[in-house]
Amino acid sequence: MGPGPINCDPRVLRAMSYQLIGQFDPSMTQAMNDTMALYREVFRTRNEWTMLIDGTSRAGIEACLVSLLAPGDKVVVPVFGRFGHLLVEIAERCGADVHTIDIEWGEVCDPALIEAAIVKVNPKLVAIVQGDTSTTMCQPLDEIGRICKEKGVLLYCDATASIGGNDLRADDWHLSAVSVGLQKCLSGPPGSAPITLNEDAVAVIRQRRHVEAGIRTAEHSAGSGQRIASNYFDLGMIMDYWGKERLNHHTEAASMLFAARECARILLQEGLEQAHERHRVNGAALAAGLEAMNLKLYGDQRHRMHNVVGVYIPEGVQGDAIRGALLRDFGIEIGTSFGPLHGRIWRIGCMGYNARKDAVLTTLACLEQCLLRAGHKLSAGAACTAAMAVYEA
Ligand SMILES: Cc1ncc(COP(=O)(O)O)c(C=O)c1O
Repeated sequence: MGPGPINCDPRVLRAMSYQLIGQFDPSMTQAMNDTMALYREVFRTRNEWTMLIDGTSRAGIEACLVSLLAPGDKVVVPVFGRFGHLLVEIAERCGADVHTIDIEWGEVCDPALIEAAIVKVNPKLVAIVQGDTSTTMCQPLDEIGRICKEKGVLLYCDATASIGGNDLRADDWHLSAVSVGLQKCLSGPPGSAPITLNEDAVAVIRQRRHVEAGIRTAEHSAGSGQRIASNYFDLGMIMDYWGKERLNHHTEAASMLFAARECARILLQEGLEQAHERHRVNGAALAAGLEAMNLKLYGDQRHRMHNVVGVYIPEGVQGDAIRGALLRDFGIEIGTSFGPLHGRIWRIGCMGYNARKDAVLTTLACLEQCLLRAGHKLSAGAACTAAMAVYEA
């Protein structure tokens, strides 16, 4: 019950044990095409270039940013948590000229600030996190997408923590590039990063096209733009591999492909809206139970992600000792946070396979025991009663 990774759905574990097949075997290329089609639905997009990057979520971020940003390109990054800082760090490593908008942690960014920064900086790209796991906040994106579209600016979004548990509409919100991971609301393991790219992003990448010597033929021509600095994360080459030509790049991580395909299949079988609602209800029950335990929730609750709740560690209680007792005595893991929030809040997830009533109620009951034993004043039984009231409502 931490902020991810979480327990895998057993169907995903089973999919990962499928026998391996050659990367150009028709059933392998069919699995790749099927995965592209499934993730188009997950991202709510018609984007042709919807595929997997092999690596954890940060591989998806890095592939998007290194392929879209050339040295000297201007980029605006709103920072309202640890993962905003990560976007800044990766964009800087791409040699981009990075301008941040610094927002108090626990809040989200007002779109008017992004509009003002676009007018001032004239960036090529805005990079933003949808759900910053470090603060639990979920950034509304529709208005920001409209602004970027109007101003002709690319919009990249990291939706690693939010996808599957909160609404995301790549086409309606004019998102140029989105990357995610499997290990949160998609109920999978870390190690594959699904991404989607719209036409504007693809045009930038195609302009930087490069085909490796050794597989290059007379028919292949290089783009006029600067070659992408990374070979592994060159989205143009990865598109050529996932596309009709099947130009060899890396060897697709077959077991992760099977996992990613199964994650999307399970989510779509449940239905996107149903999955969001499941996360919303379980998150609300968890939050109500924590408040009933005489604890204070962290951050602007109007913008909390459905799937993770931040809560202040109460006075006089050792945060790590409670986490240790929960794990040792009850086999339940919860998290703290990073940087200024380290040791100040706990983050309790209810995501993917763990966004379930039994998991929420068990966590509340066990945390209550640990807090009581640590001397925290609370009314015994109140947490589960409050959570049950949310489920009954
Ligand atoms: C919002 C967000 N972005 C990026 C990452 C990095 O993911 P990974 O550890 O899979 O590379 C995480 C991990 O928790 C995350 O929550």
